[in-house]
Amino acid sequence: MDEIDISLHYLETVDSTNVYVKNNVDTLADGALVYAGTQTAGRGRLGRVWHSPPGRNFYGSLLLKRLENPLLGTMVVSLGALAALRSLAPELAVWLKWPNDLYVGGRKLAGVLSETADSAGGARMIVVGIGVNLNTTEEELSLIDRPAASVFAAVGCKINPDFFASELARYAKTYYIMGIFSGNRLFDEWRKCNSMVGLDVELDLGGGRLVTGLATGIAPDGALLVRDARGIEKPYYCGDASITREAVRRLAERLAGTADLQ
Ligand code: BTN
Repeated sequence: MDEIDISLHYLETVDSTNVYVKNNVDTLADGALVYAGTQTAGRGRLGRVWHSPPGRNFYGSLLLKRLENPLLGTMVVSLGALAALRSLAPELAVWLKWPNDLYVGGRKLAGVLSETADSAGGARMIVVGIGVNLNTTEEELSLIDRPAASVFAAVGCKINPDFFASELARYAKTYYIMGIFSGNRLFDEWRKCNSMVGLDVELDLGGGRLVTGLATGIAPDGALLVRDARGIEKPYYCGDASITREAVRRLAERLAGTADLQ
């Protein structure tokens, strides 16, 4: 097998790095990480907009030609970003929230959007976009329509987006290799890092459908297992998950190592 290399490509401005990579899968190499100073049409999940002000944050997309399952792509990038953030800002209590987010306390720090793409020859591959709020100020965060966090607002430390890109590339490479050789091992790592398990959650399934209960685990197919008040456990494959205020407090204790791990 050829050596895996994550190569960095910087664009000052682009509509969306996911769209750019998807449109250029035939010319970009496997492992290309395209990131931008700003996006004019940054896209989030469920048709949302990803707020992408210039020069502050990280907006990038990684092309994974050797994976076909978008969930594995999400794991590569989420785990890579988690490791990069923990190494650059050790005091930041960042955690992985099922299925695609990185959170600090009860606020969203980063979101991942994993999509499939096809080469001209018909080969299936994955494009994984991630937006990370690095240096957004508290004032700018308050303009976002949902509770949002940044590294700067949380712990007062500024991280250069170029430096974040190189750290992300370094850690994502490890997880990409893991995913190619053993999807199960990558899955186990991701499952271990999902801090929602053991907490009371609220799952918005859309259309006014809301599920509340205890997140008991993550099934082998990636579904979140939630046990409701009647003791019935069911798998959920998508939805907007949030944790209760009390669960945020317990999680903070757990991350600080002061509570019993479940
Ligand atoms: C979400 O949480 O809704 C996912 C957000 C993904 C945003 C990133 S920013 C880089 C890449 N380009 C996009 O247009 N979206 C992703």
